[in-house]
Amino acid sequence: MTTNKYRDSLSQDLSKQRVGDVVLMSGWVHRVRDHGGVVFIDLRDHTGLTQVVCNPESASVFRAAERCRAEFVIRVHGVLRLRPEGTENKDLASGSVELVCDSLEILNESLPLPFPIDDHHSADVSEEVRLKYRYLDLRRSDMARSLSTRSALLNCVRAHLQKIGFLDIETPILTKASPEGAREYLVPSRIQPGSGYALQQSPQQYKQLLMMSGVDRYYQVARCFRDEDLRSDRQPEFTQIDLEMAFVSRAEVMQVCGDLLLDVLDTVAGVKIDHIPTLTWHEAMRLYGSDKPDLRIPLVFTPIDDLCKDCEFKVFSGPANDTQSRVVAMTIPNGNQRLSRKQIDDYTNFVGQFGAKGLAYIKVNDATPGKMDLQSPIVKFLGQECAEQIVTLCAETDDLIFFGAGDAKMVNQSMNALRSQIAADLDLYTTDYAPLWVDQFPMYEASDEGMKAMHHPFTAPDTHSVDVLKEKPLDQLSQSYDLVLNGCELGSGSIRISDVEMQYAVLEVLGLDRAHSERVLGHLLAALRYGAPPHGGFAFGVDRLVMLLVKKPSIRDVIAFPKTQTATCPLTEAPSILADQELKALGLKNTTLKKELAQ
Ligand code: AMO
Ligand code: AMP
Repeated sequence: MTTNKYRDSLSQDLSKQRVGDVVLMSGWVHRVRDHGGVVFIDLRDHTGLTQVVCNPESASVFRAAERCRAEFVIRVHGVLRLRPEGTENKDLASGSVELVCDSLEILNESLPLPFPIDDHHSADVSEEVRLKYRYLDLRRSDMARSLSTRSALLNCVRAHLQKIGFLDIETPILTKASPEGAREYLVPSRIQPGSGYALQQSPQQYKQLLMMSGVDRYYQVARCFRDEDLRSDRQPEFTQIDLEMAFVSRAEVMQVCGDLLLDVLDTVAGVKIDHIPTLTWHEAMRLYGSDKPDLRIPLVFTPIDDLCKDCEFKVFSGPANDTQSRVVAMTIPNGNQRLSRKQIDDYTNFVGQFGAKGLAYIKVNDATPGKMDLQSPIVKFLGQECAEQIVTLCAETDDLIFFGAGDAKMVNQSMNALRSQIAADLDLYTTDYAPLWVDQFPMYEASDEGMKAMHHPFTAPDTHSVDVLKEKPLDQLSQSYDLVLNGCELGSGSIRISDVEMQYAVLEVLGLDRAHSERVLGHLLAALRYGAPPHGGFAFGVDRLVMLLVKKPSIRDVIAFPKTQTATCPLTEAPSILADQELKALGLKNTTLKKELAQ
């Protein structure tokens, strides 16, 4: 039955069972093939492709078909028939049938395309051009799949959270600057000249205020804005699934969020996982040199500082005796055979990018105690005994051991990157998805600009003592947790501070005295004084989760209209120069672009 005068059938509905049906289809001309006498059109709709046959017997159809070019919008009417034997296309849902057209209407034409609408050619087109013509880029089935996966994910999340009592509550985007950490976008106020709003970097303060407002479980699919340096997994505006719960422990929040992720993986990707392991931050750094280790890769660091403290090899004994440095071994199973000399040289250059001065290695030809056979430029420096102890600890016959020694940060970065690179090169992945909780991050880290909160300043420390916190802030752990998927930080959260004195103290360590704290956070500090419940929460990065589900290298591939690496939009050409009048209305003056504006 025709329910829509533009369309009554979709490509995906057309199968052998429908042979003989009269159908009306609308869509785009994906490809035209003129076989001298018969014109074949691949008609594309949002569900796929259908072959349309235009025979010369119908003069009007044939004339229209000959006019068709790529991306013309057409409506065709005709009868479905089986494709002749040998011409079926197994890759298409409608590949066993074709539509013999008795009427073809061109609804709209298209200019010649800047690039073909074809998944196979997407890699040949620059991202700048793809983004400039995003409405064409999104017509590719690959991009359409990203959008539909994103939608399926949000549907799944909403249904899941609604079922367990979460209320969907919107919070303001125009808000007040927050000391959460990221640089914010500012919006000058026209009504209050000289003042302005900050665009929310996350709904963090509002969701805490909702707990203080008596809401038990909140969530929101929230747009967040951060003026940060951009990377493949960072955009200036992005989406979080933001949630918060009252009267909860860390374990309860982790359970709720872990269950949500597992439901999404099952529902959207068909991947069944029943347990998410947890590592403390210290364990993660010790074993992987990263707070977001990729657990699909079965390689770990073996810390060997203790074994190397007294060895003759200064490259190892120096860092082994220094608290800011470390020495680690990383064993590549069967690496002896799998890695060539050239690859080892390439990896040495690779770790050099992270500041490593070399990449020591041992090829374990035989690990049998008593007749160990080791091949390595460093055994003569290390001493046979020390080398054998290391091999006994972490390797077997035919393994290859790589070593990182030096400043802990450099070793962690270089060896973690090497771990990922070797896994990619040797295809060492043991599974498609490996989620992991990392908890108990330190409260603070020291930076060149002073103390920084490792999560954000509303995160509760493990200690309940304000004095202990202030005395040794760098030794304090926080009640925080990150969810990691395949080496990507998918989300993070914490139990929050619900005691006003602790909140002042945490801010004081960050350099905000009471007056300063009152100025920037007076509203939250006041609310903490009126019966704030204990509470905690979490935020997932939606873009990153979709990116991993559709196995894309960048979140730009799963956002309909993303910004480039330089935070511009090639489609709309935002940001654009603001005209003098617009600025004047906001009480602002452009001093940097005077010259251009004067022209
Ligand atoms: P956080 O800053 O860790 O925590 O952000 C949570 C998650 O959001 C995603 N994310 C981003 N995705 C794309 N582009 C960005 N620029 C970007 N920045 C962050 C990441 C990240 O893990 N309010 C706290 C959460 C809480 O404590 O509840 C917060 O925003 O996946
Ligand atoms: P060298 O004493 O500089 O000739 O180094 C001897 C071996 O140790 C070489 O195989 C180097 O690649 C390796 N090496 C040097 N510095 C480091 C380092 N910081 N970490 C790991 N290996 C290193």
